[in-house]
Amino acid sequence: MTNQQDRVLIFDTTLRDGEQSPGATMTLAQKLEISETLDRMGVDIIEAGFPNASPGDFAAVREVSANVEDAVVCALARSVSDDIDRAGEALAGARNPRIHTFIATSPIHMQHKLQMSPEDVLEAIRSAVTRARSLTDNVQWSPEDGTRSEHDFLCRAVETALKAGATTINIPDTVGYTVPNESADIIRMLRERVPGIENAVISTHCHNDLGMAVANSLAAVNAGARQIECTINGLGERAGNAALEEVVMAMRVRNDVMPYQTRIDSSRIMHVSRMVSEATQFPVQFNKAIVGKNAFAHEAGIHQDGMLKNAGTYEIMRPEDVGIAKTNLVMGKHSGRAALREKLAELGYRVGTNRLNDVFAKYKALADKKREVFEDDLIALMQSSASEDANEYLRLRSVSVSCGTNREAFAELGLTVDGEHREVSATGDGPLDAAFSAVKKVFPHSARLSQYHVNAVTEGTDAQATASIRLVEDGRIVVGQAADTDTIQASVLAYVNALNSLASRRQKRAPGAV
Ligand code: KIV
Ligand code: ZN
Repeated sequence: MTNQQDRVLIFDTTLRDGEQSPGATMTLAQKLEISETLDRMGVDIIEAGFPNASPGDFAAVREVSANVEDAVVCALARSVSDDIDRAGEALAGARNPRIHTFIATSPIHMQHKLQMSPEDVLEAIRSAVTRARSLTDNVQWSPEDGTRSEHDFLCRAVETALKAGATTINIPDTVGYTVPNESADIIRMLRERVPGIENAVISTHCHNDLGMAVANSLAAVNAGARQIECTINGLGERAGNAALEEVVMAMRVRNDVMPYQTRIDSSRIMHVSRMVSEATQFPVQFNKAIVGKNAFAHEAGIHQDGMLKNAGTYEIMRPEDVGIAKTNLVMGKHSGRAALREKLAELGYRVGTNRLNDVFAKYKALADKKREVFEDDLIALMQSSASEDANEYLRLRSVSVSCGTNREAFAELGLTVDGEHREVSATGDGPLDAAFSAVKKVFPHSARLSQYHVNAVTEGTDAQATASIRLVEDGRIVVGQAADTDTIQASVLAYVNALNSLASRRQKRAPGAV
């Protein structure tokens, strides 16, 4: 039985602070899928966005509110009436809404950014929290740059927020400056000095600029915080936020020294990690704790020997605990749809009949090309088919390239453009330059290729390659991803998928025109 004293609330801000990471924009459909998964895995509070920041953010908060069943849905608002009212409107359909309002309290932010006196900041806190409380009973307040705020003023600010009705007090380490001892001391100081704080939940929100976000969050919990704000894969501005998977697994694996409980079903961690990485096209670093490709790989002979004798010799948690299946080999070439559906469900994908048929056809084609199909192949296949299905303005039918030392690369492509078949060719500085130039002939654009990477999904020269592409046009970012055993084909498909997103954006801006 969980003792309420030991219960730590998990507040996920992947969709808000995570999305603030440059280039990590997610579509509404992706946000809905991620929020559903977070809700199912037991996240207590989902911060869905900052409604007054853009119509897209407003729509995301509104839709997530309507969809989420158990978790509290939270919307961010600066300390201004418009923001707070928009947050309230966007949350109107939520079963459990929360407004999160904030203002900076450090001398440097108040003086240079806000250009407000400390007394004015206190007044802004009073009026923002009061207004938020008139819209919902669940109000969180944050002193931005809290860890660099003067302690006396921080206490006065927190007291003001509490008196105005804040129910959660979140202390952000906005610039990732604090260290574990200090993080704990601030929480202890607030608990000792601020009247009424015992009636509120204290929260911690740490950025990772010095690589200490997780350590600082856990230190805050040790000192009495009972909510951790975090993101999947540690996504977030600059060096990111505390990673959800790390704080959760740290408290679980070292429950002997950190005796706290969360509601998180850790077996869903890997799935949501892949989902976020795919949506944002932010790759997960290979040696990232918990969710990195190498997190459970044992290469050294001495380690492998120990592992075979007893997994506990080198493994402090089991791969299954975070949703990595014991065996990675999927199925044979003769397996049927039912087996595929079951395997996909095991990997966390729920597919309807149409999607299953589509993926099944691709699976068969892949099994024909590759001797062995692994789970990672299946995941790559799911990710690339989701990207292809997103929009169909352009569809790649065929690619043929010739290139080599001392000769110009030449590419010939067959494409369907808005339903019409076209054959195009171009030369270029290498096979991709030639192929991308050919695509540009049927879809002129001024987008800059800001990122391109290719990864082998598994080992072996017959491995599938996943290609990821990021394009920027007029400050807008679109991404595309695709997988194929042919690297050139995967890259051109990824490019076409990104251009399809561009086409759909252009259409939204000027209906009818692409
Ligand atoms: O880092 C920060 O200060 C924030 C606040 C809005 C909570 O994200
Ligand atoms: Zn933040």
